[in-house]
Formats: sequence, C-alpha cells, structure tokens
Amino acid sequence: MQTQVGIIGGGPSGLCLARLLSLSGIKSVILERQTREYVEARIRAGILEQGMIDLMRRAKVSERMDREGLVHDGIVLTFNGREERIDMKKLTGGHQVMVYGQTELTKDLYDAVLKDDNITVIFEARDVHPKDFLEGRPQLDFIKDGRQIALDCDFIAGCDGYHGASRASVPRGMITEYERIYPFGWLGLLSDTPPVHEELIYANHKRGFALCSQRSHTRSRYYLQVGLDEKVEDWSDERFWEELKKRLPGHIADKLVTGPSLEKSIAPLRSFVTEPMRFGNMFLVGDAAHIVPPTGAKGLNLAASDMYYLSTALIAHYTEGRDDLLDRYSETALRRVWAAVRFSWWFTSIMHKFNDDPIEHKIQLAELDYLMGSTAGQTTIAENYVGLPFDPSFK
Ligand code: FAD
Ligand code: PHB
Repeated sequence: MQTQVGIIGGGPSGLCLARLLSLSGIKSVILERQTREYVEARIRAGILEQGMIDLMRRAKVSERMDREGLVHDGIVLTFNGREERIDMKKLTGGHQVMVYGQTELTKDLYDAVLKDDNITVIFEARDVHPKDFLEGRPQLDFIKDGRQIALDCDFIAGCDGYHGASRASVPRGMITEYERIYPFGWLGLLSDTPPVHEELIYANHKRGFALCSQRSHTRSRYYLQVGLDEKVEDWSDERFWEELKKRLPGHIADKLVTGPSLEKSIAPLRSFVTEPMRFGNMFLVGDAAHIVPPTGAKGLNLAASDMYYLSTALIAHYTEGRDDLLDRYSETALRRVWAAVRFSWWFTSIMHKFNDDPIEHKIQLAELDYLMGSTAGQTTIAENYVGLPFDPSFK
C-alpha cells in the first residue's frame, strides 16, 4: 500500500490536514486506532479562534459551523464577588471567538473526509509503527483485522495526540520534552440546560476555579477544579451543581439552571512541549507535540496553526518543488506554541487554587483587580484569548 502523506490519528488535526492537502490534489491515508463513533463522542474543546474558523472554511467543511456556531465578543471573569467583562472585540479591533463543539467539528470533518477520493481512512488500525523516517522514504507498519500491513509514503504526519505512536518512535537523544503537571484537574459536566450566561464565565474562588461554558443556547458545559485524587463516581450531579453555585457570585448562582448530566469526566492539566516538531520526514502536529491546560481554550486552536503551516509547506513541496517551508515548519510552529503555552500557564496560575496558603489568593485578587482596572491589562487577556496571528511570512 502507498500514498503521499501517511497520517497517524483521525482527530481534528489529522482530518483537517488531510482535507487541506486534498484540495491541492495531495493524497493521504489516515490511520485511526479507534472507531469513528468513539472519536466523535469525545467531549473536548468548545471554543474556536478565528484561525481555526478560517481553516474549516478553507477545508470546505464550514457550512454547519457557520450556521450553528455562536459568535462571542467577550468573556466574563468573576473574583471576590465581582463580575468583570472583557470586551475582546473592542480591545482587539474586532476579533471574536466561536462556540462550536469539537464533537460537531469532528463530525463535519469525517462527513467530508469519507467522501473525499484523495483520502483513505483506516479505522481500528492497531500497533501503528512509523519506520525509516529519519532518512529516505518512511513506512507505517500497522495491523488491520489481524493482518500486518505496510504503508509506504513520502511523509508522515504524527497527528495522534499526547499518547500516540509518532512521538514515541523518535530516538530519545533527538528530542527534548518540557513538561509541567498541575496539582489538580478539571471535572466537566455536560447538560441539556440553558447556559447560565450568554458569554463564558471564568471564576476565581477560594474553593477553587470554575468555568461556565456552553455548546448551544440549550446545552451547557461546566467545569470545576478538583484534586488529582478525585473520582467521577464520587461526584453526583447534585454535588457538582452545589459546588458550582458556591464558586459563582450569588446573583449568577441564583440564575443557574441545573439538570441531569449527559456526561461527566475528569481531565488532568499539563503544559507539555516537544522540540523540535520535525524528525526527518516525520512532522508532529497538535496534541502529539504539545499540550496546554484548557484555561485559555488553546489546545485545538494551537493544532490549527500547526495544520496551517504543515499543509502550506507540503503544498509548496508538491506543487512548486520548494522545501524551504518544510525546513521552517518546526521553528515557526514552535514560536506560536510557546506563546500559547505561556498564556495558558499564566491564566491558569491567576485563576486556580494551588494551595491553602491565604496569601496566594490575596495576591491573585490583587492581580485581577489590577488587570481589570487597566486597559493594557485587559488587552493582554483579550489579545491572547482571541488567538495570536499565524506568521504572515510563511508562504
Ligand atoms: P486528538 O484529538 O487527541 O486526536 C488524536 C487522534 O489520534 C485520536 O483520534 C486518537 O484515537 C488517535 N490515536 C492516538 N494514538 C494512536 C495510534 N497509536 N495509532 C493511531 N491513532 C492513534 N482546545 C481548545 O482549543 N479549546 C477548548 O475549549 C478546549 N477545551 C478542552 C477541554 C478539555 C476537557 C480537554 C481534555 C481538551 C480541551 N482542548 C481545548 C484541547 C483539544 O481538545 C485538543 O487540543 C485537540 O483534541 C487536539 O487535536 P488532535 O487531533 O491534535 O489530537
Ligand atoms: C469548553 O467549552 O469545553 C471550554 C471552553 C473554554 C475553555 C475550556 C473548555 O477555556
């Protein structure tokens, strides 16, 4: 079996990359370990920056997103009983974000990819093993329905997330990994209830952080900071709602509409970066190369700049015979990655409870008070939240 680009992982990065390549006539094969149903059911990101929205449009998969996505101009921060709005649109000269769930985006991508003649998707591909990528022509070995198969390709795109096979196959001496694991996680709850507020609310509270997010006018997504030793089974819906109310200012808690959960899960928080993001003819994309804590809503949006840079570089290779962009991929992608890692770390650090020392909360409140009283402070949050631009010289 052979193709031009062998893609490991059929999450948003792998699917969108395949579409962007296909529209320039480049063929790819996607090897996905799970079934389509499994991938589509994973409840994850909810906020798209302009860069990701533009990529969905460019990949010609934006029809439903443009119809159903909710455009937001601002976010709300609560702390010390205060409710403060950051008007992102005004502070950034017109930039906005969109509420559109990763589940929906993934469905739209699969609908397009499975009809695309340039793309083959192999679900339940087991034991994927990238070979010979450091020099020459790479190969992806895998098992499908008990049969061992070898896929020859020009390039490998490792889009297989944090636990994938691509990064794991790089010789240890060639890779540097930077990692911070936070001493807490997020317990998320999805419910068919109207959101408590039209915009997202990020709550700093002495009991811990909370986030009020949404998927539509009738579906809400809420998160609570919880200890790493907490188990989902110990959180009844009732306990979740009670704790959430305690972490919100009274007048907001009074408006909260509660209901049965559709899903509850705990995600650990980490910052993680791999350097470089290219190993010979294998390129890492998205969560395979970097993870950020979800506080800044950056994970999927960082994958977007990787997909943009890699698709642009591969298209230049195939259509113009130019490899300068492939050579610049890692350095260019990493610059935006580190900017988002910094913002996500910083926003996490001012919004979460790290220990029981009361001085820490007082210092956070002083910082939030300063930020809200300063146009420069609010602009810093707004500019980073809507997403830093892609490098315009990468073409
Ligand atoms: P993944 O989505 O992890 O996809 C990788 C794919 O590869 C998977 O389908 C997996 O099954 C497959 N795979 C793995 N290993 C193998 C293998 N060995 N062989 C074959 N296939 C394999 N981001 C935002 O931008 N905004 C948000 O609001 C946001 N909120 C989040 C909230 C939570 C609770 C979490 C956990 C994450 C959130 N994120 C958010 C992050 C976002 O979900 C990820 O950054 C995004 O899923 C990355 O996409 P990806 O395609 O790179 O990786
Ligand atoms: C979500 O809706 O899942 C979400 C929104 C904003 C974040 C993180 C997660 O910062």
